[in-house]
Amino acid sequence: MSAVKQEELRSEFPFFREHPNWIFLENAGGSQVPVSVITSISTYYSRSYVQIAAQYEQSKEATQIVKEAHDFCREIMNGSGIGEVVFGSSTTQLVHTLAHAFDKLITNVDDEIVLTNIAHEANYGAWTKLQGKVIEWKAHDRINIDDLSALLSERTRIVAIPHASNLIGEVLDVEAIVKLVRQKCPRARVIVDGVAYAPHRAIDVHQWDVDFYVFSLYKVYGPHFAVLYGSNAAWKELIDISAGPNHFFIPQTDVSYQYELGCISHEACAGVLGIKSYFEQVANAPKDQPTRKTIEQAYNIFADFERPLVERLVQYLFTKPDVIVLGQRSTKNRLPTISFSSTRLSSTDIVKHLHEHKIACRNGHMYGYRLVTARGLDIIDGVVRLSALHYNTIAEIDKCIEILDLILSNTDHTPETSGPIQD
Ligand SMILES: Cc1ncc(COP(=O)(O)O)c(C=O)c1O
Repeated sequence: MSAVKQEELRSEFPFFREHPNWIFLENAGGSQVPVSVITSISTYYSRSYVQIAAQYEQSKEATQIVKEAHDFCREIMNGSGIGEVVFGSSTTQLVHTLAHAFDKLITNVDDEIVLTNIAHEANYGAWTKLQGKVIEWKAHDRINIDDLSALLSERTRIVAIPHASNLIGEVLDVEAIVKLVRQKCPRARVIVDGVAYAPHRAIDVHQWDVDFYVFSLYKVYGPHFAVLYGSNAAWKELIDISAGPNHFFIPQTDVSYQYELGCISHEACAGVLGIKSYFEQVANAPKDQPTRKTIEQAYNIFADFERPLVERLVQYLFTKPDVIVLGQRSTKNRLPTISFSSTRLSSTDIVKHLHEHKIACRNGHMYGYRLVTARGLDIIDGVVRLSALHYNTIAEIDKCIEILDLILSNTDHTPETSGPIQD
């Protein structure tokens, strides 16, 4: 276990002081933000809220903040020197922009686009709008790379996968998947949705040889903002076939500028640098330590705090006879995002009970619509999702289990009808 004290990290998040009686297990919906992020955005508004790229002092400062946010995100991805990052309002927007850019590359109806039914819809729907045949990797009852392998061929042009499902929380072996794609599909690009993974473990596009990787910063302690990495070769292929979408006078070589249309949120860039400060604090990083090392150290600390949380929750839920947990019992590759349904109670009733006991969580399909459908669950009622992060304590998980047990062990409980709840 890490020498860093969890209480100290937790005390950086004002939300927990504002709501001391609540247990927040809705982190897969969006994490809380530390003081460093709040301060960084607020300072940007009061000090540097001017248009970038002019030559006066305040504009230079704002330009530097936007530049440094790009630099930091390249480091988070471990893509410095091998690729470029693009900011956008959300992962959904960035994947749509990317899919649109593939329009001129995927022109044949025999081109194949491999998608999976455990995806969040953000990395599924956009790809179905292209020419080309959709081949679905049905991974809803077991995530098995051999099943994916059987679907790959020389016709495959796109393989779009989540790094972890936002409902199952099981981590896919991205490195093995990319290797497989490189062997079997010489013309394919791999697009990884890392939204459910990025708050928990370090990303390494260099090691995994990924073409595109995208995640939302509001799940990683930051503002509502998202970032898309692409390798230099993958961006070039798109730009060569059709110029980037921005104005004609903007250089094609400036990938970020080409795909960031109009003004991105500069205040959100300041927020991104607040995440950097938080990571430095978590890692207790010396001033001159390389940023990548700090990032890896911070994520190791997150993992140390998360492991016992997921183990406790999984162990408990698998003991309940009427409960069906999505994914494997093994916690080896599991993040603390756990979804389940009951054969006796509606998910809506379970969540209502948890809310009454001040446990923030939700039920529904959370845009994992195809997964919930494939599991034969009511699409509105869906699953109950409990999702923790490094700042959640073992005591909170134990309390949640105690409260859950009141309803899951009470065989007299009469279910009510369900109501819609969305992500
Ligand atoms: C796994 C996953 N992918 C994509 C998204 C969409 O992210 P955004 O809201 O930034 O479009 C979410 C949001 O919950 C998600 O959990």
